Amino acid sequence: MSIITLSNHKTFTAEPDKTLLACAKSQGIVLEYSCRTGRCGVCKANVLQGETEVIQPELALTEDERASGAILTCCRAATSDLELDIDDLGALAEIQIRTMPCRLDTLERLADDVVRVVLRTPPKSALFFLAGQYIDVIGKEGVRRSYSIANAVREDAKLELHIRQVPNGVMSQYWFGDAQPNDLLRLEGPLGTFCLRETRTTNLVFMATGTGIAPVKAMLEALAATPESLSGKRIYVYWGGRTEADLYWTPDFPTLGLTYRPTLSRANAQWPGAKGYVQQVVLAENLDLADTSVYACGSEAMIHAAREVLTQAGLPLKHFHSDAFVSSN
Ligand code: FES
Repeated sequence: MSIITLSNHKTFTAEPDKTLLACAKSQGIVLEYSCRTGRCGVCKANVLQGETEVIQPELALTEDERASGAILTCCRAATSDLELDIDDLGALAEIQIRTMPCRLDTLERLADDVVRVVLRTPPKSALFFLAGQYIDVIGKEGVRRSYSIANAVREDAKLELHIRQVPNGVMSQYWFGDAQPNDLLRLEGPLGTFCLRETRTTNLVFMATGTGIAPVKAMLEALAATPESLSGKRIYVYWGGRTEADLYWTPDFPTLGLTYRPTLSRANAQWPGAKGYVQQVVLAENLDLADTSVYACGSEAMIHAAREVLTQAGLPLKHFHSDAFVSSN
């Protein structure tokens, strides 16, 4: 048994052959995570002291990061006592993860390849979650897929999802073909650690590609419900797609006074908005990145590129919060 100490002095014990992330969780300590398969990089931590071993491949780490002592807590076990340069996420420890039945309430096409699905949970069994988290939906024969919740907690407890069609995807076949209102499904959640943090930074930057806008929409709804917490803050939203048809929603939060930059990577000549990739558009905004917190959700490629360019330009790594969509068929 090894003792693991975090930078806020919290400790937990770790067994050999069990990931650090799982050991922490079993003792009520929540560390940042998303995919739990070594691909998204959200659970990255620097080892200040001690030894670890790899028990599943750390696909999201670059050679440079590995050489500088970074590990993925979802992939490594401790082989000695350890000091890690990360904090736990206290607020999330209170959140209970549950598996429950749910019914498909409504289904609506948002774009050629995106549907909005609304799920309802059983009466008196509302799911409590933090805006930005995701759920796993479990369909027929136990097929399970992860989707971000696209709303803040609602009075009617319904859950909105934005689902993109995946060519030959098993669940896509269901959502885009067979799904009917009232269908019975199961869900597990809430999952993930992508949520608003208490922060002193002036600028809050939300960046998304594709259906990565779903948790951003949820966070903006949560902020709009507590405008008093935003005094002196400036909010920026960057949403990237290939063509105009990909941007199927417009943020409409008058009380937030936000700056919205819809961004197209394959814009035609008439497009009046930003062109290129969202991370480049954020850079071109010339914000004081040392005084900025970033919440990014979308493709793995965008998350990796955004983390790299923004931290190189002065954004502190611990102010970059992300959830990468790791695709599966
Ligand atoms: S790489 Fe560890 S949670 Fe995604």
